[in-house]
Amino acid sequence: MLELRQLSKRFGGLHVLEAIDLVVPQGGIHGLIGPNGAGKTTLFNIITGLYAPTSGTVDFEGASLIGQRPHRITQRGLARTFQNIRVFKEMTLLENVVVGLHRHLHYGAAGLLFASRGYRAEEKRARDRALELLSWVKLDRQADDLADNLSYGNQRKLELARALATEPKLLLLDEPVAGMNSVEKTDLMREIEAIAARGYTVLLIEHDMRFVMGLCSRVGVLNFGRIIADGTPDTVRNDPRVIEAYLGRDDDEDPTREQPVHLPDLSGDFPALGSASRLDLEARR
Ligand SMILES: Nc1ncnc2c1ncn2[C@@H]1O[C@H](COP(=O)(O)OP(=O)(O)OP(=O)(O)O)[C@@H](O)[C@H]1O
Ligand SMILES: [Mg+2]
Repeated sequence: MLELRQLSKRFGGLHVLEAIDLVVPQGGIHGLIGPNGAGKTTLFNIITGLYAPTSGTVDFEGASLIGQRPHRITQRGLARTFQNIRVFKEMTLLENVVVGLHRHLHYGAAGLLFASRGYRAEEKRARDRALELLSWVKLDRQADDLADNLSYGNQRKLELARALATEPKLLLLDEPVAGMNSVEKTDLMREIEAIAARGYTVLLIEHDMRFVMGLCSRVGVLNFGRIIADGTPDTVRNDPRVIEAYLGRDDDEDPTREQPVHLPDLSGDFPALGSASRLDLEARR
């Protein structure tokens, strides 16, 4: 579905991505992990057209995305959420999702002005669909609340519902469970599984190794702008280069970073993880 070949990105003299080869087949949940600053978000920014790559190719369903504007890439069937939450706080949850639906609505400002029957029917369809998407992330009962009043975790879910409103085939999630407690994480994990079961392909960035390992069928690992491993969770977590990339992080952690970092968790669990972590078991229950 998505194919990156020899993709590189430089910012001035900084080589942020180096010759990335990555394939995301259609269906399922795919993970992208790697230490802080590895280049994960930059990769998403290139795929979604926010940055142009320095070299290399990005193909989606067999056609190039390079040079296309972000809204065009959304129309092609790619949607994303952001590491730093972007919801419209002064709007209701429902309105936030309807914004994502706009490309499926045919009535513009004129329809609004004259409130034609067709417009009203379409408005109802949009409202129903938005409510349905909110129910996928268990937020439908708060549909008419302002987004500003939502907890951090629920704002992430709202962003996910809005991304789904664009009817994507591939959903890119940048640290969807960051800042959530473990109950919220497990809930969202189940919701993401349910979304994938509806036929959406998911590629997600995450730091929490247990979360990724329990959820993803394949995991790619970025370190200093290079893919150092790519395979099933079992292969990846036993790969010495991956263990080194993570365990070597203790010293070079950025103390100014706002997002919680899950390293202490990881260094305890990671090398010893058996074939089924706690979250694996929870996910399969
Ligand atoms: N627009 C930019 N201009 C210059 N440097 C940038 C830009 N965007 C990202 N970088 C640099 O690229 C590197 C990779 O950043 P990126 O945000 O992709 O990492 P990440 O893997 O998402 O990290 P994190 O886990 O902390 O979110 C960092 O050194 C960052 O400072
Ligand atoms: Mg990032």
